[in-house]
Amino acid sequence: MSELLPQNQLDEFKAKANCADHPQELIVDLLRAIQTECGWVPDHGIDLVADVLGVLPVEVEEVATFYDKIYRYPVGKRVIHVCDSVCCWANGSEDVLDHLQKTLGINLGQTSADGLFTLLPTCCLGACGEAPAMMIGLTTYGPLTPERIDQVLAEIREEAGG
Ligand code: FES
Repeated sequence: MSELLPQNQLDEFKAKANCADHPQELIVDLLRAIQTECGWVPDHGIDLVADVLGVLPVEVEEVATFYDKIYRYPVGKRVIHVCDSVCCWANGSEDVLDHLQKTLGINLGQTSADGLFTLLPTCCLGACGEAPAMMIGLTTYGPLTPERIDQVLAEIREEAGG
């Protein structure tokens, strides 16, 4: 039993791990399941994944810290990943970041006072044709202008009821 994930989901992962040649392949899925439930992956989430899959905690930590969309610390309800790779940089990603930081009143790595947005950098989102771009949840937005950013933030605030 764990407060991180319902028992039926843990049992499913255990069953899959027992049949898998390489249970390590399930690490990302289990981390994502915990993150969906908790909003991020705390230290005891790493231990839980290791225990359920029968792998070493360090193997889980390596995966968790490799992927920038697995969060090892508490984040806001919506995480804004601002692309800082070359196409976006050449098309004004620094201005995008500046606008986001001023509008939200936070720097990279921080969460807005209302707990709604966390701002993080990311490498290429595969949306170079729409540079400069950002990703929130599973949605990529671009090409970004200050007006478009304000519109996106307002839509998300409205969805969140505030
Ligand atoms: Fe930003 Fe590719 S460089 S999406």
